[in-house]
Amino acid sequence: MSVRRDNWGSRVAFILAASGSAIGLGNIWRFPTVAAQNGGGAFVLIYLVFVVFLGFIVMIGEISLGRHTQRNPVGVFRQLAPRSLWVAVGFLGLAAGWGILSYYSVVAGWTLSYVFTTAGGTFSSGISAEKINEIFLGTIASPTQAIFWHLLFIMLTMGVVMGGVKKGIERWSKILMPLLFVLLLLLVVRSLTLENAHIGLKKYLIPDWSKVSGNTLISAMGQAFFSLSLGMGTMITYGSYMHRRENIVCSAGWVCFFDTLIAVLAGLAIFPALYTMEGLEPQAGAKLIFIVLPGLFSQIPFGTLFGTGFFLLLSVAALTSSISLLEVPVAYLVDERRWTRKRATFFCGFIAFFLGILSALSLGSVTGLSHIMDIGPRSLGFLDMMDLFFGQFSLTLGALLIALFVGWKWGTRALIDEFSSSESRSRFSGLIAFQIRYVCPVVLIALLLYLILNPNAFA
Ligand code: PHE
Repeated sequence: MSVRRDNWGSRVAFILAASGSAIGLGNIWRFPTVAAQNGGGAFVLIYLVFVVFLGFIVMIGEISLGRHTQRNPVGVFRQLAPRSLWVAVGFLGLAAGWGILSYYSVVAGWTLSYVFTTAGGTFSSGISAEKINEIFLGTIASPTQAIFWHLLFIMLTMGVVMGGVKKGIERWSKILMPLLFVLLLLLVVRSLTLENAHIGLKKYLIPDWSKVSGNTLISAMGQAFFSLSLGMGTMITYGSYMHRRENIVCSAGWVCFFDTLIAVLAGLAIFPALYTMEGLEPQAGAKLIFIVLPGLFSQIPFGTLFGTGFFLLLSVAALTSSISLLEVPVAYLVDERRWTRKRATFFCGFIAFFLGILSALSLGSVTGLSHIMDIGPRSLGFLDMMDLFFGQFSLTLGALLIALFVGWKWGTRALIDEFSSSESRSRFSGLIAFQIRYVCPVVLIALLLYLILNPNAFA
């Protein structure tokens, strides 16, 4: 039942698109904050270990599954394990794609609105801290504002996905990824030349092992899967558009490298800025980006320019990720249900939009949505709950199930045949197979058990 499918134009196209998926709000916003809360340099080192030993390996598994079957995440399991429960892993991925997209686009909507607020010169010198706070609340807590920007962002995402693999995702990744890199480099230089940059840099680079605990491991792992877009079939889907002649291990290596590079650079851009303003301790998530940084932009020369560049960077990074979130359910409807791409994109985009309205309203405008559940000391609103459930838990579970499937059901021989078909088998093939069969499942089961016993472990 194979439908004619699009392919990436080249290996570079795959690497750019997959890096575009991986690099997003997770790198520029989440990574620096989670690192700041978990012992700076110590967290960064643990994170690197997880990327190399878990993320990279699961990514090779996902891409291989996709390329082997040339199918979407549901189709993969239907083909390789017909009439079995494995297909549920594919549907879990679809649900995660929708779930993550719904709130991701709300946050991305705020960044989009800040591009305009900042460019209009709002955060220029003399603005008071109260005013900055007011603007922030006006954006996230006003139902019309929040929903308007969320809708606009989803529509941009739909516009790209509708264009298809080559003319949509590939074309835009080729333009947006280099833009993102240049913007980030400019910001790093600006940040490192701030007067007290060394204070933040020390916090970032010198490990503070006293802050490391079991929870740190969980945060690092959750961050790695989220940041590398693993555990829900994004890389299966992107891998399914990959040519047989391309080298999977190398491509996955590049994607992991770029994703980590951008996260580390984002830390370099944000940490000095964080500690430059006197008496400021790292703040969690939204406040850091939407209150602390505008405060900084208002105090430095050319702040409006750099501020606008920063929010543009975030919006671009978010867009190349959100298209990959939307592409997962779209690919399913196009492949398995024979929908046209246009219809599938509209349908999936609007479901995510309507679901996202609940997240958009959960930051102040509807009290019932701002306190949904308590875990430990934290009270979670709808948006946080979606992030915890889909962005963290479901990706970890998905990654475990995918590793088990590749290692034990599909089999490591088939895996090695797929990823090393074009060249002679490399020395590492056996090692990769061993890791996906034994190391990944054991580590992931241990971490999931820990998480069940300590549900507030995710940062
Ligand atoms: N990796 C993206 C980020 O860091 C988010 C994402 C997760 C995208 C899962 C696709 C799948 O922002």
